[in-house]
Amino acid sequence: MNIKRTHDKFYLNETYKKNPKEQSKFIENEIRKDFNLQAESKFDLIDIGCETGSFLYYMWNKYKNAELSGIDIMPELLNKVNDGIAERNIDTYLIDISDWDSVSVIKKQWKIGVMSGVLSIFDDYRTVLLNALSLIKKEGTLYVFGIFNPKNVDVLIKAKKSEEKEDVWESGWNCISQKSIQLFLEEHGYICEFVPFHLNIDIEENKDDPLRTFTIKMVDKENLIVNGIQLIHNFALCKIKREGFK
Ligand SMILES: C[S@@+](CC[C@H](N)C(=O)[O-])C[C@H]1O[C@@H](n2cnc3c(N)ncnc32)[C@H](O)[C@@H]1O
Repeated sequence: MNIKRTHDKFYLNETYKKNPKEQSKFIENEIRKDFNLQAESKFDLIDIGCETGSFLYYMWNKYKNAELSGIDIMPELLNKVNDGIAERNIDTYLIDISDWDSVSVIKKQWKIGVMSGVLSIFDDYRTVLLNALSLIKKEGTLYVFGIFNPKNVDVLIKAKKSEEKEDVWESGWNCISQKSIQLFLEEHGYICEFVPFHLNIDIEENKDDPLRTFTIKMVDKENLIVNGIQLIHNFALCKIKREGFK
C-alpha cells in the first residue's frame, strides 16, 4: 500500500486568513484563558503544520507583540505565510515533524506550541508527539487539536477516492484514543487534558471533494462532524504540559 498525503494542496486556494476557521477561534480562546493573554502580551508561539499561516495570521491580528513562527513540510504553503503581513515577519521552518533529523536542526524552543490537524496523519503518533514537545520550553504548553477517540480504541485509517486508479492511499484521519495519548505522555513525564470541540456552524457537503469535512445536524441540534470516510470525527484540544509545571 502506497501512503501519501496529497490533500493539503487545497490550502493554496483557501481564504482562511479572511474567514478564520472555527477551530482557530477555539484554540486562541483556550490559549488566552490559560496564559491570561491581553492584546499587548508578549509571548512566543510556533504553529506546527501551519499551511499558509491562517492560524498565525489570526494570532498576529490579535497580539501585536507576539513572536510567531510556523513549520510545514510543503514549501509552497510556507511561501504564502507572510502574505498580507506588512511588518513583523513570521519565521518559517521547512521541517518534517515526523523526522527527528529534520526537527533537531531547530535550536530554539517556544512557550506555546500549536499542532492542529496534523497528528492524525501519522500512524506513529508517538514520534511526532515527542518531536513536537522537543520544541516547547519546559514551562510551556503544546496544544494538539485533532480527532481523538473518547473510547479506548486506537484506529488507523487510509482512504482513496474511487476515481484514483493508482494504489495511492491518503492518510490524515487516524483516531488514536485519548487514553493511549494520556498513558504515553505520562510515561514521558507529561500530563494532558482534553477539551472537546463543538462546531456551532453548519458545513455543507462538498460534492467535488468527498474528503472535505461536513456536518450533520443531530436531534439535540449538536453538529456531528464527518466526511466521505463516513466515520464520526470527535475533535478535541489536547493540552500537554510537563509534569510539575502549572
Ligand atoms: C490537515 S492540514 C492542517 C492545517 C492547519 N494546521 C489546520 O489546522 O487547519 C495538515 C498540515 O500539516 C502539514 N504537514 C503534513 N505532514 C507534515 C510533516 N511531516 N511535517 C510538517 N508538516 C506537515 C501539511 O502540509 C498541512 O499544512
